[in-house]
Amino acid sequence: MASFGPIAPHYDLLMSNVPYDMWAGYYRLLLASHHLNPDTLLDVCCGTGSVAEFLADDGYIVEGFDISEAMIAEARRKEEKAQRGIKYHVADATCLDLGKKFDSAYSFFDSLNYITTLEGVTQAIIGVGRHLVENGSFIFDVNTAYAFEERMFDQKDMRKRAAIQYDWKGDYDPANRIIRVDMKFWRDDEEFEEVHVQRAHSDEEIREALRLAGFAQVRAYDSYTMDPPNRKSDRVHYVVKMAD
Ligand SMILES: C[S@@+](CC[C@H](N)C(=O)[O-])C[C@H]1O[C@@H](n2cnc3c(N)ncnc32)[C@H](O)[C@@H]1O
Repeated sequence: MASFGPIAPHYDLLMSNVPYDMWAGYYRLLLASHHLNPDTLLDVCCGTGSVAEFLADDGYIVEGFDISEAMIAEARRKEEKAQRGIKYHVADATCLDLGKKFDSAYSFFDSLNYITTLEGVTQAIIGVGRHLVENGSFIFDVNTAYAFEERMFDQKDMRKRAAIQYDWKGDYDPANRIIRVDMKFWRDDEEFEEVHVQRAHSDEEIREALRLAGFAQVRAYDSYTMDPPNRKSDRVHYVVKMAD
């Protein structure tokens, strides 16, 4: 069963409580506190483009890519209507070749956890590095193993008045840090299912991939704060810069 297929046309509705504006604000804060002033941005695993839209509205020149044709179709549908000038591509982060470079890249909402092998996530980080100018930067978040241990994916909203009802159940294997989440959705008369799989990449693995990609300065934060991660951080944001 595919992930980000049947849900794509309903994704923004499902995420209507997600504070994308706050996330874009946190991104701006991280840029400012690291003295980063990019003009061109690459949204890595952009989904339906919700973050890209906020940043394009700020004046950044944004391109996004995602492996899911259905998510990109949704992003393009919104772009056609709003004409923000965002370009979208269907592409796989593990073998990225867009043929151009950006001042900065970002990837939010546990997108890199969806790459479920160490080799894959390493290649994705190296690929992002290849798409950055000298001194380019990359800001991304990841779910931690703690989030999976705490069963963050066991969620449901079966209220009759909910615009979209859902029931999710996670099955976490701590031995390989992989979680499989069986997701059921109900929208109007339609019922559909997806299976999502994520891997909790360890901090050491991420730092090694960043080193291989040529990133020299690495800072990690307990997400949506300026504090370092702690053992109860369920999500961590990394701010990294290419070596001079
Ligand atoms: C949870 S969604 C987040 C989407 C978007 N970043 C957001 O904030 O709404 C994760 C996204 O990662 C994409 N994805 C997963 N593996 C990918 C890969 N190998 N290459 C590109 N995109 C990928 C999925 O298709 C999905 O759109």
